[in-house]
Amino acid sequence: MKAIVQGRYGPAEVLDLRDIDRPPIGDEEVLVQVRAAGVDPGVWIFMTGRPYLVRLAAGLRRPRVPVRGRDLAGVVAAVGSRVTRFRPGDEVYGTCSGGSFAEFASTPARRLSRKPANLSFEQAAAVPVSGMTALRAVRDSGAVRSGQRVMVIGAAGGVGSQAVQIAKAYGATVTGVCAPARTGFVRSLGADDVLDYTREGVDRDGPVYDVVIDTGGDRPLSLLRRALTPRGTLALVGGAYARGRLLGGYGRQMFRAPLLSLFVGQRLRTVSAVERAEDLDELRELIESGALTPAVDSSYPLAAAPDAIRHLTDGHPAGKIVVTVCQEDGRSGRAA
Ligand SMILES: NC(=O)c1ccc[n+]([C@@H]2O[C@H](COP(=O)([O-])OP(=O)(O)OC[C@H]3O[C@@H](n4cnc5c(N)ncnc54)[C@H](OP(=O)(O)O)[C@@H]3O)[C@@H](O)[C@H]2O)c1
Repeated sequence: MKAIVQGRYGPAEVLDLRDIDRPPIGDEEVLVQVRAAGVDPGVWIFMTGRPYLVRLAAGLRRPRVPVRGRDLAGVVAAVGSRVTRFRPGDEVYGTCSGGSFAEFASTPARRLSRKPANLSFEQAAAVPVSGMTALRAVRDSGAVRSGQRVMVIGAAGGVGSQAVQIAKAYGATVTGVCAPARTGFVRSLGADDVLDYTREGVDRDGPVYDVVIDTGGDRPLSLLRRALTPRGTLALVGGAYARGRLLGGYGRQMFRAPLLSLFVGQRLRTVSAVERAEDLDELRELIESGALTPAVDSSYPLAAAPDAIRHLTDGHPAGKIVVTVCQEDGRSGRAA
């Protein structure tokens, strides 16, 4: 099968389109014929090996898993002997650890769910990592309730664009923070108000927000806390591109926020990545009810995955970028 593979850490130039063996499947795994795969900062992190912290898990000198990509949407090609929830031909979406920028990917059945019926494969591939993170930020870390005021920083991004819609579905009044070119897009997601971060600070409105969800990454905690009510909750999602070779923006999340949280009335929480079918099921319900529509900024054919990653880091996308996979048998996500 064709796959996007890397042998060393570095910029997008380290990625190659190569022919490799299809991945094997274990008893509890599913082989998915990938139609589309999402592109998110996690892909950039594992490609570059930055911040260095990630190499403890991904491989110290070179990536242990050579194929990039985590999100996927596709069709079940085969199932392991103990898989009962899926059978060949089912349309699914979810995540994998072995790389989804490939014609086939294997993954445990518990990381897959039925694809929302009203989405294309491209749209479905935009959901898993970002949508599950947005859901955890709104539902779990933020514990958002109807009537609350919520600020989403990075509202035009993959996580933020879904967090705005999920917070609205939970009955909140939402302010989206974004660059000036994205204010119309963020309003179109349902945000009640927008704040242009190039002109105004996130503390513009004073301490009025019950929940602040930060996917932007490098603002000081003291500034974020000035936007929160005295008992408000800060949900820290991201820090991928923040300065700092060793920890990136994650020092704020892993050390400073948990420590400070012990001494202040506000709750300072880190949103952790947990990928499970129950959350994909909940997202499907939101999607099929019309409350959540994933925004696809653009799609790239598999061979152009390096360009997709460049666009993510340099192009200020509105929503998610996806890679589409043209299958050997002629059925395609979408060709170049
Ligand atoms: N905790 C977890 O489990 C988890 C899971 C998924 C992702 N993440 C992390 O969450 C973060 C966001 O992911 P994503 O997929 O949403 O990334 P993304 O699509 O690249 O979105 C990031 C957003 O941040 C905005 N931004 C950049 N600088 C900003 C600033 N100074 N003020 C406000 N907004 C700013 C960008 O807007 P402009 O382009 O307009 O500047 C962009 O919309 C990343 O750090 C990622 O690694 C964490």
